[in-house]
Amino acid sequence: MVQQKALFLETPVNGEWVVRTRDVPKPGPGELLVKIRAAALNPVEWKIRAFDFRVEKYPAILGSDSAGTVEEVGQGVQGFTKGDRVLHQGSINDDKATFQQYAIVSAEITAKLPLNISFDEAASVPACLATAAVGLYNGRHKPGLTKLTPPWEEGGKNIYAGQPIVIFGGSGSVGQYVIQLAKLSGFSPIIATASQHNAELLKSVGATHVIDRNADVLAEATKIAGSPVKIVFDTVSAKDTQTQAWELLAPGGVLLLVLPQQIDTAKYPNKTAIAINIDRNVPDGRPLVVSLYSKLTQLLADGSIKPNRIEALPDGLAGIPAGVERIARNEVSGFKLVAHPQETA
Ligand SMILES: NC(=O)c1ccc[n+]([C@@H]2O[C@H](COP(=O)([O-])OP(=O)(O)OC[C@H]3O[C@@H](n4cnc5c(N)ncnc54)[C@H](OP(=O)(O)O)[C@@H]3O)[C@@H](O)[C@H]2O)c1
Repeated sequence: MVQQKALFLETPVNGEWVVRTRDVPKPGPGELLVKIRAAALNPVEWKIRAFDFRVEKYPAILGSDSAGTVEEVGQGVQGFTKGDRVLHQGSINDDKATFQQYAIVSAEITAKLPLNISFDEAASVPACLATAAVGLYNGRHKPGLTKLTPPWEEGGKNIYAGQPIVIFGGSGSVGQYVIQLAKLSGFSPIIATASQHNAELLKSVGATHVIDRNADVLAEATKIAGSPVKIVFDTVSAKDTQTQAWELLAPGGVLLLVLPQQIDTAKYPNKTAIAINIDRNVPDGRPLVVSLYSKLTQLLADGSIKPNRIEALPDGLAGIPAGVERIARNEVSGFKLVAHPQETA
């Protein structure tokens, strides 16, 4: 068996990180084996290490974002050949996680990388763009919820013109993709909260108004919106942002949360919240993600979707634990950390 290097989290709750070898897996029917050139870090990794959830067995391999080249094409796959530059979302544990040198992915949720996007930039896209997309548009598959049409589908562009949207945490990776999708959908105004130093970044990806996260967000957002706010995306989902979001939301509106609900919502009977979980929702959200990936190359090529700014980490897979700690300490603001698994010593 051909061997590769992978980063293992050895045990639950503050377990040790260890780089060691494991077999390079073989792609099954409909799958690709990808040689990972860049793997992005996400907040979920420090949370899993601290609180032990989502992982079914240890030692575990984490990592949800990859960009690289196709190394092997599984049976029945059309449209990909060895050497193609691609990006894809990983799933935590074993062959599909991305904190390793090779990973398996289903071809239908893999997209080719246009030449204008580097591997590092591309690695910032998959998990957080999927979170933004599933939150905003997966309601179509769940009658009674948001039911918005995605902008990459026929007739979907600019159809929500004149409708306000408010995004808590616009400078995070999820927040930047929510802003960009909202822009493609035509929402206006697009109101986002962030630290003041990230205001220009948010405007560059499509926010029409940026509110300092320490200001009176409720008052300012209400004034700017000018009409009832039916969609609020809380990419922070802390107790204080959830409280403000519920207050801001108009009757009949939908609040999208990235973390579980934290407040008693009995006093908001005519408002709805959806807690997004891309892992748990992937089977349910699969048609949406397949549809997104069928258009993702074009969206990246024409600049409709811009990757996050990135910082590349040194030392290959061995550099990841220090990056995970920086995210846990809130030291990463407005950019994404990316590791290069092939540079592992
Ligand atoms: N449910 C799911 O399936 C799913 C999927 C992906 C991510 N998530 C979760 O979604 C959250 C965001 O992920 P991410 O990757 O976007 O994180 P990130 O890129 O690390 O973004 C963090 C940013 O949040 C901002 N922030 C923190 N508190 C804020 C507040 N009170 N108001 C406004 N902004 C605030 C900060 O912005 P400033 O620096 O500008 O202050 C910070 O830079 C994480 O908790 C993550 O675990 C969930």
